[in-house]
Amino acid sequence: MADTQNTPYYITTAISYPNGRPHIGHAYEAIAADVIARFQRLQGRDVRFQTGTDEHGLKMARKAEEQGRTPRDLADEMAGYFQEMCAALNISHDRFIRTVEEDHHRASQSIWERMAAAGDLYLDRYEGWYSVRDEAYYDESELIEGEGGEKLSPQQTPVEWTVEESWFFRLSKYEKPLLDLLRSDGFLEPASRRNEMIAFVEQGLKDLSVSRTSFDWGVKVPGSDNHVMYVWVDALTNYLTGLGFPDETENYAKFWPADLHLIGKDIVRFHTIYWPAFLMSADLPLPKKVFGHGFLLARGGEKMSKSAGNVVDPQDLADQFGVDALRYFLMREVAFGKDGSYSPEAIVERANGELGNAFGNLAQRTLGFIAKNLDGSLPQIFGHTDSDNSLFEAVDQAITREIPQHFENLALQQGVEAWLKAVFACNSYIDAEAPWALRKTDPERMQTVLATLYICIAQLGVAISPVIPASADKLLEAMGINPKLRTYDGIRSHWYSPLAESNFRLDKPTPLFPRLELPANEDA
Ligand code: MSP
Repeated sequence: MADTQNTPYYITTAISYPNGRPHIGHAYEAIAADVIARFQRLQGRDVRFQTGTDEHGLKMARKAEEQGRTPRDLADEMAGYFQEMCAALNISHDRFIRTVEEDHHRASQSIWERMAAAGDLYLDRYEGWYSVRDEAYYDESELIEGEGGEKLSPQQTPVEWTVEESWFFRLSKYEKPLLDLLRSDGFLEPASRRNEMIAFVEQGLKDLSVSRTSFDWGVKVPGSDNHVMYVWVDALTNYLTGLGFPDETENYAKFWPADLHLIGKDIVRFHTIYWPAFLMSADLPLPKKVFGHGFLLARGGEKMSKSAGNVVDPQDLADQFGVDALRYFLMREVAFGKDGSYSPEAIVERANGELGNAFGNLAQRTLGFIAKNLDGSLPQIFGHTDSDNSLFEAVDQAITREIPQHFENLALQQGVEAWLKAVFACNSYIDAEAPWALRKTDPERMQTVLATLYICIAQLGVAISPVIPASADKLLEAMGINPKLRTYDGIRSHWYSPLAESNFRLDKPTPLFPRLELPANEDA
């Protein structure tokens, strides 16, 4: 798509609390953001991608205290695991931000000063409910009753009564502009999450407590000895810090406002009410889109929790099934925006059936046949038939329309389905044309069929590369596809004949996706 060439695209994930090791929910969000970032690069966009850890606040302070260590020590250890997870899952971020970093303190203090200058901050006393698990203030009317009659937050986490001196932010002042924003097309997606936010604003917004005095693990409020910022004020500011804010940097000019904040459904309120209000107050442009994805649940749709013993380390899944099989499964299985669940059986089934049998075998059969029967030189084209042309058309339709449109709309599952449909078309073609049977009867036709498949396989390899980057690169490398051609436009150009006429030789291919077995102890 020519209109996206070189246009900037800034995507962020939520920054995770490093109060424990990363779990599969964190991996899911990082992978989805990575697929989108890689897809946008394929479209020729100038992408910036940020992820990281949210290290301040009471939740971190308490966890550290429980473990008899400093919050910084806990953050250092756990942030390391989050960075390792990103490396292991092949996440292509440009910056991994940690909110303890010096530039982040400076950015947070700057946005604070801008809100103060707008007359939106005042000192008062907070008296009300707070959930440390959610790092959120709740109104009495929002609370629900737990099984033992205790009060719980709407996310079913414990709340505690809190009384302390606090700075307040005039959130109430922004009701009207926030309603306009939430009602505008495209700001908050999926649309199903909008009504809840609109209802929350419509029932009237109270001013928000934005500093704490009962502990000191946070960013200092400018000019104050005893206040640290409410952790969400600094956490949300990370999206600006990473671009060099408050300095007028090239990155800031190029990438702000963000194109997409990708977050989970539990933190939509912070991103679509508090964050835009802070930005309006600070007189800064608003992000273009916030997408609240669903939750990944354990086998049987259960919520993951330490007490249920069903928390899964993404590293274990990647080790067991392979990084690309895991990435593919998560994008393919779960309708993006809805909740989904996973199980080892489901991963094995998708990976073996779709990656292994449908795509892997197609590539293996075609490339293996060329390597063996043509001695590795690429087949020549002796004129295409209608059946070749209709395969080209099906693949072209997928890679120029369906896949990019779905990915652009964040319908990631449909994007993968469109790819799979084109893979199936190639499988039907190879079965119908049966190049192995043509070897003796019509060697020229055999070559044309193999060349047709070669072109389509490379195109489909590029198209799915955001989802399975390492396997796609391995395939495209083996096929001699110049890295410069590995974009939607590049792979549709006339690269085949020059490659076939060059001295490139195809080696005997190695299988892309080893067949997965269920581990013995995973019997259902
Ligand atoms: N620190 C805040 C976010 C601050 S963003 C300025 C936070 N951290 S978190 O560690 O609890 O969650 C990080 C992200 O992971 C959030 O987007 C959250 O919705 C997502 N997920 C946490 N558990 C999840 C699942 N089980 N499934 C999918 N995503 C989940 O919130």
